[in-house]
Amino acid sequence: MGKGNVWGVTSVSWRVPAKVNLSLAIGPGRDDGYHDLATVFHAISLSDVITAEPSSAQSPAITMTAAHDGVDVGAVPTDASNLAVRAASALAARLGRAPAVALHIDKAIPVAGGLAGGSADAAGALLACNDLWRAGLTTAELCDVAADLGSDVPFAVTGGTAVGTGRGEILHPLEVAGDLSWVVVSAARGLSTPAVYRRLDEMRIAGSAPAPRGPLEPPPDLVTALAAGDLEAVATALENDMEAAALELAPELSGVLAAGRFAGASAGLVSGSGPTCVFLTPSAAAADEVAAALEHDGYAGRVMTATGPRTPQRVA
Ligand code: C5P
Repeated sequence: MGKGNVWGVTSVSWRVPAKVNLSLAIGPGRDDGYHDLATVFHAISLSDVITAEPSSAQSPAITMTAAHDGVDVGAVPTDASNLAVRAASALAARLGRAPAVALHIDKAIPVAGGLAGGSADAAGALLACNDLWRAGLTTAELCDVAADLGSDVPFAVTGGTAVGTGRGEILHPLEVAGDLSWVVVSAARGLSTPAVYRRLDEMRIAGSAPAPRGPLEPPPDLVTALAAGDLEAVATALENDMEAAALELAPELSGVLAAGRFAGASAGLVSGSGPTCVFLTPSAAAADEVAAALEHDGYAGRVMTATGPRTPQRVA
């Protein structure tokens, strides 16, 4: 339970996972600036810890530390535009109370990496403030608040593995037999999600990326393979429509993908809008071996191992 004194809980901490997209089919652009999509979200053990404490200030305050070298917390705003601050404010508004809270984020998820790190922090703020303020909102109610904050925030609240449709905010949980073992390779610089969507639209108009596929749905082979725990079939079914656009904006990622496959990964792909590359491996031991080989190659970003699926956990 939370750190406390005889008067009650004084701080609440939640550990919230990063996500990878096991499949990501993007439809045409919509009138509201978004794209309809069909994805399989998968939450992994790489995670941020979000702590909420009472504060006498009238608006949320936020501080951040890097859990590892190479997490560029300086690139994240700490003003009212911060997504976790906006999450605390949105929850307070929904509850009709003052958003008086001090947030702290210990960040391990790469910034602007295609791993929904900002969405994880927003989800952590919702989960931690819900407990700190003893609001008692259900997961579904928190997902309602989350959907207004960003397309990936509802999944960050639930974690696990889930089909996401709409702009990503409509979720259907999926069964996964056993854990999947991953190697995660971050990049030296981030990519802007809207810029990658724009580039995909341009490439489709120019004919250098395939047009949107027929009905927007996750590959049936992937869903079956996940339920069966058939790693080889999962590896074969991984796909990401955004990869071509991310590779145009960051061509060096092609070398990272080739190196991971050469090092023994079953499959490798760009995570979401990138630039993080993720590699599925047959076991945790195999992930360690692939990670060691990629570290030896000296890529500019960090090489990490992770397992999934994971769900947000209260840690204090
Ligand atoms: O929802 P979120 O704020 O994370 O989206 C950031 C940007 O990514 C949007 O403004 C839009 O440009 C793009 N996006 C999109 N279609 C989606 C999700 C995001 O075009 N389904």
